[in-house]
Amino acid sequence: MDLPISRRNWLRTGALLTAGLTLNRSSFALNPVAVNALHEQTLFNEFAQLGREMPKLKARIAFNENPHGISKKAKEALIQAAEVSNRYAMFEGQELKQLIAAKEGVKPENVMLSAGSSELLTAMAVYYTGSAAKSSGGTILTSQFTYDDFLGCAKKFGAKIEAVPLTKEYRYDLAAMKAKVTADTRLVYICNPNNPTGTVVPVADLVAFCKEVSPKVPVFIDEAYIDFLKPEERPALPKLVAEGYNLFLTRTFSKIHGFAGLRLGYAIAPEKFLPELQNYSRGEWNPSVTTLKAGIASYQDEEWQNFCRTENDKARELLYKGLKEKGYEYVPSYANFVLFPIRMKTKQFEKEMFGNGILTSTREYNAQPYCRVSVGTVDEMGMFMDVFKKIA
Ligand SMILES: Cc1ncc(COP(=O)(O)O)c(C=O)c1O
Repeated sequence: MDLPISRRNWLRTGALLTAGLTLNRSSFALNPVAVNALHEQTLFNEFAQLGREMPKLKARIAFNENPHGISKKAKEALIQAAEVSNRYAMFEGQELKQLIAAKEGVKPENVMLSAGSSELLTAMAVYYTGSAAKSSGGTILTSQFTYDDFLGCAKKFGAKIEAVPLTKEYRYDLAAMKAKVTADTRLVYICNPNNPTGTVVPVADLVAFCKEVSPKVPVFIDEAYIDFLKPEERPALPKLVAEGYNLFLTRTFSKIHGFAGLRLGYAIAPEKFLPELQNYSRGEWNPSVTTLKAGIASYQDEEWQNFCRTENDKARELLYKGLKEKGYEYVPSYANFVLFPIRMKTKQFEKEMFGNGILTSTREYNAQPYCRVSVGTVDEMGMFMDVFKKIA
């Protein structure tokens, strides 16, 4: 079975195929919403096929999900919340926003919730490059080899993407990016830690970049994997939002909290901007009452977050050890996935891993194929290495 494994690569492949078809067939090729609907359908069909194969899998380590599930406290909250699941979530969002604001040193008005952070990424793309923008298009400045969800959506709305090469350490090259800011730059997008490289930019460099660039051009930092850094290692960007810098941060409960299926995310941004963005998303009203109640419990459960972070570190070390033993290099990661160059074509690698019960993901950068494997449990990493040693 030929598997296009990455969730986002799937989206991209589907988008290209679908766009090609519609271009040949009808005028609605220019309508990004119509294209989107069609490629989503392709994606769902492909996932339905994968779903039928899934039970045969030994390890699902392709989507950077939390292999430990959700915290016990979140589970209890979810069960209790079943009692009120006939009600709209009128108050729970406020409660969670207050908790987030207190922890991050911002006001609740600086926080916007959403059903997963993808929704915020889409809303940002629509706001900055679609009909909401004063003029459509413009340039989004970013790095090569980064998360393509927001960028893909912005492109559909007519944005040009200026993607600067990574440094040789696979990091965003902030100095090179700064030099590329022009009057046409509509927004800067930075993913930190970066997906798929797992690298981070030095905290002081990022803070200096935000302070210098954001008064000219808004800076969007996707912090989906920030919780895998210890609290003291995280850049204090919410503080800059509180100080009035034009920064937009997104976070998700999908990773360390294990809420990928429950869907919960949030943004931290200037107070004046969020009501405008709310016009392009159901935002606050999208997370269900059950998810919010579980989110409130999980957000306060630091023991669970520490446990997941420690387990992730342990399993990641095991993976590094196995790769080293096999003579493979890898990109040291600050997240729950690891990127490493492979010596096989991407599709063949995916197929062979999948044939042996391992669902993982691949990418190409500068004509070099890479595997991006999610960090699963210690046992799953052992299974991955057993198969990898056999096929590589
Ligand atoms: C960098 C990055 N941002 C955002 C997301 C979106 O996650 P979610 O919509 O589950 O919050 C992901 C998901 O994998 C991601 O890798």
